[in-house]
Amino acid sequence: MANTRRAACRALGALALCSSIGALALTTPGAYAQDKQITLGFAQVGAESAWRTANTESVKSAAADAKIKLKFSDAQQKQENQIKAIRSYIAQKVDVIAFSPVVESGWEPVLREAKAAKIPVILTDRNIDVKDTSLYVTMIGSDFMEEGRRGGHWLADHYKNDQGPINIAELQGTVGSAPANDRHSGLIEVIKSDPKFKIIASQSGDFTLAGGKQVMEAFIKTYGNKINVVYAHNDDMALGAIQAMEEAGMHPGKDITVVSFDATKGGFQAMAAGKMNVDVECSPLLGPQLMSAVKDVVAGKPLPKRILTEETVFPMSVAAQTLPTRKY
Ligand code: AHR
Repeated sequence: MANTRRAACRALGALALCSSIGALALTTPGAYAQDKQITLGFAQVGAESAWRTANTESVKSAAADAKIKLKFSDAQQKQENQIKAIRSYIAQKVDVIAFSPVVESGWEPVLREAKAAKIPVILTDRNIDVKDTSLYVTMIGSDFMEEGRRGGHWLADHYKNDQGPINIAELQGTVGSAPANDRHSGLIEVIKSDPKFKIIASQSGDFTLAGGKQVMEAFIKTYGNKINVVYAHNDDMALGAIQAMEEAGMHPGKDITVVSFDATKGGFQAMAAGKMNVDVECSPLLGPQLMSAVKDVVAGKPLPKRILTEETVFPMSVAAQTLPTRKY
């Protein structure tokens, strides 16, 4: 009889322990992460560049590797489409929303809606301009301002023995986007103290090859061989500008110094062919970092407000030997 009571107590004890573990499992975010597949809603900028294609591929393959269910949308470079996508992810009650904002401003209303629905938001690649930084958990990506400074320092060094004037034609990225704003400001910060550098033309080519080519054709018509430097905010526009220069009988990389950003395979091929002088790296391979941040957020772990990507500068002289190892 006593043995039966002891066995019953043991069973009840085990039950009590089990139910306290159960309560723990219900209240501990980490346990939730282990039990249920995480759904991530990702609102991509578009497919405007080779960089973006590599970024999309990185996000999709990292989600698959991390066994995270990915809902993906392409905003075709339009903020209104991204806002629609984010609202639809809120309605679908995804666990986390991540997006690479087309432009910097105008995000407060939709991010307040995500916050009210208790859905954490992670920014990737591009930053936003909001007063209330509690509207997002973290921002993963490059320091575009530093990239602009790197381009500026390379130019300052390249022309250190030249009296000038050095006339710069700037091919800007999408108007209002963080990389366009910061790559411009970073350059200005470095060259403003040296009056021999002059930005004689500046226009957006929307980060596309066609846009870069069209704007460069117009620059050549207006300024001809007064242009010493093309400062293109990404490789696609630089490659378009190179085509425009060649069609006009110019020799990019020789008659006109070409500074670009991203360091894609296309940029490396242009450098190896002597048509681009320097490529400032901007890595699109953000998928693995994003998935690890998503898991941490769901598990309730604290994250730093800014997760920076490590990058470098590739001059033309290293292109041929580095090209075979480029991943994007
Ligand atoms: O936000 C990153 C920028 O966007 C890349 O430099 C460009 O290629 C892309 O379109």
